[in-house]
Amino acid sequence: MTMSWLTVASSFLVVAALLGAAAVDGVIVDGLKVGFYNKTCPAAEEAVRDVVTSEIGMDRTIAAGLIRIFFHDCFITGCDASILLDETPSGDVPEKESSANGFTLHGLRTIDVAKSTVESMCPRIVSCADILAFAARDAAVAAGIPFYDVSAGRRDGSHSNMDDLPGNMPTPSHHVPRMSELFAKRGLSQEDLVVLSGAHSIGGAHCFMFSNRLYGFSQNADVDPALDPAFAAQLRQVCPPRREGDDPQQAPKVSFDGRTAEKLDNAYYSEVLAGRGLLTSDDSLIKDPETKPTVDLFAGDDALWQQKFAAAMQKLGAVDVLVGEKQGQIRRQCRLVNKQSRQSTPSRPRRKRPRFGRFVPGSGFHGFF
Ligand code: HEM
Repeated sequence: MTMSWLTVASSFLVVAALLGAAAVDGVIVDGLKVGFYNKTCPAAEEAVRDVVTSEIGMDRTIAAGLIRIFFHDCFITGCDASILLDETPSGDVPEKESSANGFTLHGLRTIDVAKSTVESMCPRIVSCADILAFAARDAAVAAGIPFYDVSAGRRDGSHSNMDDLPGNMPTPSHHVPRMSELFAKRGLSQEDLVVLSGAHSIGGAHCFMFSNRLYGFSQNADVDPALDPAFAAQLRQVCPPRREGDDPQQAPKVSFDGRTAEKLDNAYYSEVLAGRGLLTSDDSLIKDPETKPTVDLFAGDDALWQQKFAAAMQKLGAVDVLVGEKQGQIRRQCRLVNKQSRQSTPSRPRRKRPRFGRFVPGSGFHGFF
């Protein structure tokens, strides 16, 4: 059922050859398989789907949360469920605690429920990384994307460190060249950047993620002139100027796509073209001559974008995955690395956790940037 070392190694070579001389830190690993659990836990995918469907039935906003958790997991040390860890054996403060994650992660409970459901059916068989990949697909399907297959066989990592985010995770104030560079580091293309940004067709952003565009934008303009003025006026109503001591957790959240907020469709691209993209990073897709034509294309062709989105999610799901029994583990609980049976490794002292919400004045965001 699991891959042999030889297969894994040769997959790496094939991928490396395909990537040519391009310098990448991340690799799309070709070691996953559709139907990986067919013999060992045949009902796993269906069980995850049932949990996700039922949770979304109770709270539609969870669909967006699950897709974002998957993206944030895969982008940092690959799709290894490192984002789900509450603590690490090394004592490193986990990714989850980074201000790019923290309370803005939404849907973690759904993964816990899915894991305990699957665990009660087939203990220690299905990885948290695969459950997250299935759940992200099921969320996308629930939000309107046609069904697509998810290859599985990922194993769970034990490394998770919030210090891995700076310099690797795109930020809301990034422009296309920097984001393309970060995507390339993960083996993803500039087209993948434009395609996957379309996930901002559902869910939303807290005011502090874009308030730099609404107040004190530049020396000449209080509001970012790229924003549609009526839209900017509405946003200023919802998002008052930030004050020292504001609790970020109380900040209002605004839908990315005010037209079809709960439907994963191409309306995001038309909204961005109309100056109604919330984040600087969204708006930059139409400012940049390299990405603007792709935005135009997707704005006019929902079916094409949906098909590209499914393919890009499959590609994202193969970034730096751990495969084969020698790598990673199958966690019992998604929030904790399995304890070793013998007490061989003394745990290092825990690093002090930051308080979420360190504002960087004028950055429009806070935390690690
Ligand atoms: C490439 C640059 C990207 C940047 C700078 C970015 C940034 C952000 C920010 C700042 C938020 C708001 C979080 C909050 O305030 O709660 C957000 C939300 C979201 N992002 Fe991205 N994102 C990017 C790409 C992606 C990709 C590639 C995906 C998925 C494949 C994605 C999926 C989402 C979703 C679904 C939400 C809504 C989450 C919710 O409402 O719970 N984003 N993103």
